[in-house]
Amino acid sequence: MKNIAIFASGNGSNFEAIVNSNLNCNIKVLICNNKNAFVINRAQRLNIACEIVEYNKYKSSCDYESAIEDVLNIYQIDLIVLAGYMKIFSENFVKKFENKIVNIHPSKLPNYKGLDAIKRAYMDGEKEIGVSVHYVDSGVDTGRVIACEVIEVKNGDTLECVEAKVHKLEHKLYSKVLEELL
Ligand code: GRF
Repeated sequence: MKNIAIFASGNGSNFEAIVNSNLNCNIKVLICNNKNAFVINRAQRLNIACEIVEYNKYKSSCDYESAIEDVLNIYQIDLIVLAGYMKIFSENFVKKFENKIVNIHPSKLPNYKGLDAIKRAYMDGEKEIGVSVHYVDSGVDTGRVIACEVIEVKNGDTLECVEAKVHKLEHKLYSKVLEELL
């Protein structure tokens, strides 16, 4: 069975959905770069080890990434799953873990890369808003797409309603793709 690490920085609804989907793997650790993130409460409740590795504690991104690598080595991680992790890895780091880092992004990539993707698509009047799971490279949401599904935006849908639909799809799609990858 493969050992996976989930990286998250904030709310952690995707983290919780993955843990609850009983994948055929060991979810060894949550790696979080924000000591105030709600995802840490979720990890405690779900009995998943949590390692907080904060960027501002290190002199350089090289030192930060080597601290992350130490954690990955300790837990013997095979696959890195990013779920709302707000930090871009260097090219050097990504090369070391080629095809071993995946991410989820709430858009039909390559459209709407980066922050506030759902809001931007909604404001543009898009009738379909996607969720993509992709391999990670050193760009922002630029790695090869593994799977993409969409929700329909109906007339009268508020932004909140669309966001809720997108998150529901994320929770389903991420576990499905991980199951296939594992
Ligand atoms: C999700 O929309 C995910 O696609 C994006 O960040 C958000 C994280 O949400 N990368 P949560 O913390 O899992 O609730």
